Amino acid sequence: MNNAVAGFSKLSKEEKINWIAKEYFSNPQEALVTLKKYWNSDEKLQKLHDEFIENTISNFYIPLGVAPNFLINGKYNSIPMAIEESSVVAAASKAAKFWSTRGGFKARVLNTEKIGQVHFIYKGDESKLESFFAIIKAKFFSNTQNITKNMQKRGGGILDIELKVKTHLLPNYYQLHATFDTKDSMGANFINSCLEQFAKTLQEEAQLWDLFSEEEKNIEVVMSILSNYVPNCIVRAEVSCPVEDLVEKHIPNPKAFAERFIRAVQIAEVEPFRAVTHNKGIMNGIDAVVLATGNDFRAVEAGIHAYASRKGSYSSLSHAKIENDIFTFWLEVPLALGTVGGLTSLHPLVKFSLEMLENPSAEELMQFVAVAGLAQNFAALRSLTTTGIQDGHMKMHLNNILNQFEATEDERHLIHKHFKHQVVSHSSVVEYIETLRNSEQFRL
Ligand code: MEV
Repeated sequence: MNNAVAGFSKLSKEEKINWIAKEYFSNPQEALVTLKKYWNSDEKLQKLHDEFIENTISNFYIPLGVAPNFLINGKYNSIPMAIEESSVVAAASKAAKFWSTRGGFKARVLNTEKIGQVHFIYKGDESKLESFFAIIKAKFFSNTQNITKNMQKRGGGILDIELKVKTHLLPNYYQLHATFDTKDSMGANFINSCLEQFAKTLQEEAQLWDLFSEEEKNIEVVMSILSNYVPNCIVRAEVSCPVEDLVEKHIPNPKAFAERFIRAVQIAEVEPFRAVTHNKGIMNGIDAVVLATGNDFRAVEAGIHAYASRKGSYSSLSHAKIENDIFTFWLEVPLALGTVGGLTSLHPLVKFSLEMLENPSAEELMQFVAVAGLAQNFAALRSLTTTGIQDGHMKMHLNNILNQFEATEDERHLIHKHFKHQVVSHSSVVEYIETLRNSEQFRL
């Protein structure tokens, strides 16, 4: 049985790892070696990472890759992607190359509104609350002046504050529903600070409002927090070309390909089981760029999946059509991203990724991210509707299997040669490695 530990966060890093190694590992020495192998020898850099979170014991590597040749709005870009899944960067690069000779990607931001809410309980007359709100509304703006002045200088700030009656959902439940423009920052701290001030103003002003009864004066603020659902912070990415231009080695009949591709998208539009996997493929591209640029991929994930369900049933984020012999494939996604604040100036690889993207504004980053999602979706659907996914997927995964079996350079050479024209599966690779290792000829 493992023991509980008191004051773990107060222990030094050495004390923490020693306790963990002793408590959970049959070979504590080996566990310590593994953890320390991933420490950075540059102490300043390691300290920076240690201080991102509490109780840091090591660093967890994820590869940072690059997908080049992305022609977006007429300009070439190389997109940084932080991801562990073998085939994602290869698929993005392939899609980028494919579309670079067919007009490239078009992307544009449709709107950039962020949202935050103060959730509160008011036990009393609804119309009295409404008049109270209308009269004190200006105070919400004036009392947050010290928080908003810098954002206002950058052209952003609080856009509007509404009182929302939610008593049909929960007894006595109301909201202050506020909208914000946070310019190049994701804005979470800015929004949450404004909301906490709104909550204070709401409660203080209610206490002073003579028309409220004693019970009405005692507004209970349950919480004040931004919403990660941002259905009015949308970016659109699109590719299109004449159907006949889709032709290439694996697409000998472009019309049949385009029709089958559209059918695959339609299935994801109407069938939630497929839509989840379809959108997961989109998120392969989106999350990888979001992570590489130091943004909050959990927030992005939560918001995007809510958006995919906005019509009452989970559905595809992307759509496709043929009109006048032109094939068009596009997606629209909500993305609350920042290129200033947060990790953006702290994490050296985030700074690197942003510089590689030529230090984009938040709107430009939204476009890169949406394009990466669309490219990924195109690559997945192209494979699924032609060769099937496993061929490419398993060829990329082959290296993981070889690493698992600690294959030597000679073995790798022979195995890659053998599987160039064979179907790769975990068992077929294992079987082949075993055959090689048992073969006299190989040993000699
Ligand atoms: C795998 O990571 C993603 C796919 O399953 C996406 C899809 O099915 O569209 C290939």
